[in-house]
Amino acid sequence: MMRFLLGVVALLLTHVAADHKDFIAQPGKNVTALKIFLELKEFNMLLPRSVPFNVLEPRQQWEAVTLFNMLYSAKDYATFYKTAVYLRHLVNEGVFIYVLSVAILHYPETQGIIIPPLYEVFPSHYHNAEIMNIANKINTHGKRLVKFYPQTHIWENNVVIKWNTTVWPYLDGNYVPVSYYLNDYALNTLYYNVHLTYPFWMSGKQGPLSKFNRGEILWFINKQFNNRYYMERLSNGLAEIPEIDFNIVPEGYLSGLVHFNGVPFPERPNYFYLYQPKLIKYVSKIKSLERRVRDAIEIGYLVDMKGQKINLRTPEAINVLANVIEGNVDSPNIFYYGSILTAWKELLGNSMMTKHMYWNGQVPLVIPSALEMFQTSLRDPAFYMISKRLLNLFTLWRTYLPVYNPEELAFPSIEIQKVQVDKLVTYFEYTYLNVTNALPMNENESK
Ligand SMILES: *[C@@H]1O[C@H](CO)[C@@H](O)[C@H](O)[C@H]1NC(C)=O
Ligand SMILES: *[C@@H]1O[C@H](CO)[C@@H](O)[C@H](O)[C@H]1NC(C)=O
Ligand SMILES: *[C@@H]1O[C@H](CO)[C@@H](O)[C@H](O)[C@H]1NC(C)=O
Repeated sequence: MMRFLLGVVALLLTHVAADHKDFIAQPGKNVTALKIFLELKEFNMLLPRSVPFNVLEPRQQWEAVTLFNMLYSAKDYATFYKTAVYLRHLVNEGVFIYVLSVAILHYPETQGIIIPPLYEVFPSHYHNAEIMNIANKINTHGKRLVKFYPQTHIWENNVVIKWNTTVWPYLDGNYVPVSYYLNDYALNTLYYNVHLTYPFWMSGKQGPLSKFNRGEILWFINKQFNNRYYMERLSNGLAEIPEIDFNIVPEGYLSGLVHFNGVPFPERPNYFYLYQPKLIKYVSKIKSLERRVRDAIEIGYLVDMKGQKINLRTPEAINVLANVIEGNVDSPNIFYYGSILTAWKELLGNSMMTKHMYWNGQVPLVIPSALEMFQTSLRDPAFYMISKRLLNLFTLWRTYLPVYNPEELAFPSIEIQKVQVDKLVTYFEYTYLNVTNALPMNENESK
């Protein structure tokens, strides 16, 4: 085992050494970003490889944004490409895929390039540890032992691990009947892709996002996610999405996922008690942030960083209100209103016990919860409880808007003759997902 590990390390080192030679001599237009990157590299302060990356962690986010600025300011496609190839061999895998994806989506010259779906790049964020474990064993044994693993069979030249997520016996919780929905790979990737399109750290004031009402879009998307989940609950005999407050969260969550360094995703126990010393700081932060936003809604204005009032009594204010609740860079006062959404994810994801690990004394190491990673947040039922609570703030805001008058709602020239709706059905179909990219290669395969 030891020899195998050493072999892998040596291999990575030769790769890096080979690529250093054609280091980007031509920096992009953002010299600041390049300078920061070079310093991080020189002082060995980049997030190391093979540990999880959490874009909500400020220090890791800063590294990712710096790398994004480097790529995004590349003076042409060739520089963009060379920079990306260089970074690929240097930075953390999670950071690399994240930054490259956001950059490809927004850089003018890479429009139309299709990014490989994340569930094939990082399969372990989509399949539980049991599936990944079987895949790893088969990867080592080859096909000769396939018949000894329940649920596996050969299909053409591939090994198939057959899986029905609803009946994984190790899980216990109200959400199990809807886990086919919560764990849906396409749904989770959709939320992740929405985030890549409107990253909370990317400004909508100038640059690629300027033509969107990002806040309003976010409100709309979250509303859709919640409505759909609510319908799935109802058709599976579950009641309303539970309310959360600051006492006890009855519904726990265990994802069964394992990060690629082997550390399991944090778990939230059933009847999660929020009134405990470790959590007081987080709870009181959310209480203050929510109170500030609720006060603003009731008084009718937000206060920006210069102390100027921003009127909330207009329908268009939904955009700024959503920016404040998400806590994105377009929030008029991020220091005062913070990010309620992130604060809740942090609290209910229950990942804070790992916050104080550092690499090299400087770089925080984290074990993000499913809630905190955009590709997995929709899996945790708490996501919808948080959304419900935050969507209620919008409902409160709307009660202060003037009521519609009949003229605004009437379309006198249109006459509705008939309304017909098909029966809504959820159907299941099997699908093949490729987990090859999560499996280690041996010396020969990697040549
Ligand atoms: C350049 O990069 C730095 C560091 O990431 C960032 O603070 C700055 O806003 C970027 N400048 C532009 C014009 O994007
Ligand atoms: C998965 O298991 C559930 C519960 O037994 C069952 O209702 C569902 O039809 C199964 N799904 C598939 C695709 O086999
Ligand atoms: C699975 O992915 C690997 C690596 O990208 C690829 O070589 C292989 O052909 C894929 N298998 C199938 C069945 O698509």
